[in-house]
Amino acid sequence: MAVAAASIVAAQQPAQPVAVLATDAAIRNIIVLNKPNLQRGETIMQALAKRQSTRQFSDRELTGADLSDLLWAADGINRPEKGLRTAPSSRNRQDIYIYISRADGSYLYNPKDHNLEKVSDTDCRGDKLAPIHLFIVADTDDTSTGIDAGIVSQNVSLFCSGVGLATVCRTSMNRKEVAEGLRLPDGRHPVINHPVGYFK
Ligand SMILES: Cc1cc2nc3c(=O)[nH]c(=O)nc-3n(C[C@H](O)[C@H](O)[C@H](O)COP(=O)(O)O)c2cc1C
Repeated sequence: MAVAAASIVAAQQPAQPVAVLATDAAIRNIIVLNKPNLQRGETIMQALAKRQSTRQFSDRELTGADLSDLLWAADGINRPEKGLRTAPSSRNRQDIYIYISRADGSYLYNPKDHNLEKVSDTDCRGDKLAPIHLFIVADTDDTSTGIDAGIVSQNVSLFCSGVGLATVCRTSMNRKEVAEGLRLPDGRHPVINHPVGYFK
């Protein structure tokens, strides 16, 4: 079912064997995102010229179009035939996961279907600097992990400066609370967070 990007729909999972259904919620909260708008934004040189850390944000909620394009720019699939992404990763291990938190809970970005799946009702924004905090999460922990996460962070920063959004790249956060609130599986850990919103 196609719906507006910011609305949540209950998507019926494919039919499951009875044994699985008994232990599975069977209904998931999915936010269907818009297709990325590849025509928007300033030139790459203008985006670089305007890139800056912002720590004061308007209260205005991010539009569905901005949220959709933000997630695709961060680490979406740009070559569907091979499943390759807007951010490179060491040995193409695709070890980075994007989560967002907002007032109504937390969501995992699924690049394959370009949608968001709700993972919890917990708002992990901590200081609640912006209407949305984006979390860059990894399931590796070696010398390339910070590089893979940092490249996604730079995609976020350049997307924001290129389309007039405000953000700051931060490594400070309460990692334990974030990991619990995002319901991260074992081995997955938050690396960077980005409050994202409109300039005040
Ligand atoms: C790896 C890394 C971690 C950072 N962590 C934080 C942070 O925890 N909190 C924060 O307010 N800014 C953080 N920053 C933003 C820097 O403070 C900021 O980039 C620097 O002051 C330069 O300002 P500019 O980004 O406007 O050029 C971080 C930046 C990087 C690259």
